[in-house]
Amino acid sequence: MRVILGQSTKEAVEVVTSMVLERIISHPTSVIGLATGKTMEPVYAEIVKDALKAKTFFDKAFFFMLDEYVGLKDDHPSSFKTYIKTKLIDPLKLHESQFAFPPVHLVSSGSAGEHYEQLIKEAGGIDLQLLGIGINGHIGFNEPGSLKESRTRIVELTPETKEANKRHFGEGLMPDKALSMGIGSILDAKHLVLLATGKSKADAIKYVLNHHDDPSCPATFLKSHPYFTLVLDPDAASKISLKI
Ligand code: F6R
Repeated sequence: MRVILGQSTKEAVEVVTSMVLERIISHPTSVIGLATGKTMEPVYAEIVKDALKAKTFFDKAFFFMLDEYVGLKDDHPSSFKTYIKTKLIDPLKLHESQFAFPPVHLVSSGSAGEHYEQLIKEAGGIDLQLLGIGINGHIGFNEPGSLKESRTRIVELTPETKEANKRHFGEGLMPDKALSMGIGSILDAKHLVLLATGKSKADAIKYVLNHHDDPSCPATFLKSHPYFTLVLDPDAASKISLKI
């Protein structure tokens, strides 16, 4: 695991942005896994700003979304599909066909997870996977208790996750379930980049740095990946001591 400590949130965001841009410019047909959430918002804003120069490279890339709520319409303002459409697809004038979204419409048939895994396989796997972290250590929507071998599947959201995200929904309308790539699916990506910013992530980051393969904090599973980069801002790193 490589840990990069930004001197500011802006610097941490720029590190992650550069990693994505460098990958796409050096390998334009890259397959990139994208996370959503508040942490990633400045990353996509920065990518859009910088990528306008490198847009031709983006036209050849393919993107997989990490997760999606179950039970929302595609165009729901708080769906992850709407999130990425407004933050990346529309500003960069990309084609929706360059994106794969967790097939929540297949949930009732029971084949949604398998279908998504197959799509990832057919794309040749994910080259670079972007990740955020929940305050409870979740990655994607792999909540505490998830198995290291887990694959794309329906997951029940924990009360902490619902509390952290309920502001996007009306009272009592927060979904209970999501379709999320599993930890095993995430670990199959060739490179993993996790960005954590803000004080609310400091305890989870401290836990990740001090534990290995601990199902109570799914992000600890990432440490066994040979190319895992953890990028932190000063607040997220405020409870750890890094030896230089
Ligand atoms: C989003 C996702 C989640 C978020 C995490 C942090 O696609 O998979 O794991 O990355 O919940 O969310 P924010 O950034 O809103 O704190």
